[in-house]
Amino acid sequence: MTDLIVDLRSDTVTKPSPDMWNALKSLTNDDLGDDVFGEDPTVNELEKIAAKITGKEAALLVTSGTQGNLISLLSSTSPGDEILIEEQSHIFHYEVGGAARIGGLTSRTFSTLRGTPKQENLQPLIRERNDLHQAWTTLLAVENTHNKHGGTIVSPLDLKLLKEFCTENDLKFHMDGARIFNAAVALGMKVKDFAQYVDSLTFCLSKGLSCPVGSIIVGDLEFIQKSRKYRKMLGGGMRQAGILASMGLIALKANWIKRLAEDHQNAKLLAKGLQELTGSIIANIPETNIVIAHFDESIPINEFVNSIRKKGVLVLPMDSHSIRLVTHYGITKADIDFAIQEIVESIKLI
Ligand SMILES: Cc1ncc(COP(=O)(O)O)c(C=O)c1O
Repeated sequence: MTDLIVDLRSDTVTKPSPDMWNALKSLTNDDLGDDVFGEDPTVNELEKIAAKITGKEAALLVTSGTQGNLISLLSSTSPGDEILIEEQSHIFHYEVGGAARIGGLTSRTFSTLRGTPKQENLQPLIRERNDLHQAWTTLLAVENTHNKHGGTIVSPLDLKLLKEFCTENDLKFHMDGARIFNAAVALGMKVKDFAQYVDSLTFCLSKGLSCPVGSIIVGDLEFIQKSRKYRKMLGGGMRQAGILASMGLIALKANWIKRLAEDHQNAKLLAKGLQELTGSIIANIPETNIVIAHFDESIPINEFVNSIRKKGVLVLPMDSHSIRLVTHYGITKADIDFAIQEIVESIKLI
């Protein structure tokens, strides 16, 4: 192992910034309270700011993106309902089937090219409500940015069309916006430009925004009141959670959000380097901070991932022929150059 570790597995590996540590250290007991009673002033402030930034009535701090998505589904559906979700989505793949197990929901999946559903593909999936035999289709979920498609953006224009579709078909519209700030920065827009079209939105403080813990869900007041109850049910009622929220307040400052553009720039450099210097890899041109690199079948992925790990470059295998590389706070341009160099060397030896 080398001394230098360039960890590109995920933007969840980020550590707090100096400003976050300062905010945490300068907290006093007056800044804290029991959040289950709604008495933590720092959490209350964070929720107020999150609602304002997203243009929604109310917000709720939750433990994780997974919990935020599940609570949102619970608050917007009834057991036995069917939801429409993308077949590569995080909710469908990586949330332990919570929608089915806890929400009693069936999932009807649809495929997309790059994460944005097309109305004409969704329409046939809506079940006939008057048919005695069929479940009710009650919710559509999109992921923005879309992780497995390589950090792709669902644009506000597409969200607007999807919202119209949801209204016409009496569906709630949920956005898993774990990385919605990346989408907003990449398009030079505001998160509220996206959020205006959905009923509920989950976003993560603990990914590109670099907080150690926490996600936020936003929606109207009734949705958040219901969600507060489901959060308690799922064991997400935290007490002096201002400890976490103090760092979230730094994460939502404009300068910190803008910083994401550096990650996008680094992701582009990484993809370009991989494309140009290795004949064996085709990487997506990233819209945000995720690079998916595809290898030809002759390259054994696990062996390759292990070999670059020994050189200090950490990436995540996605399937038998692709890996994911994610840029984030703490990854510099020099780290990207180093990663490309080590990947190129390892490919030659494999
Ligand atoms: C798109 C997306 N949604 C939701 C989540 C879940 O977030 P958490 O890991 O905080 O549960 C992730 C995590 O990687 C994600 O990538």
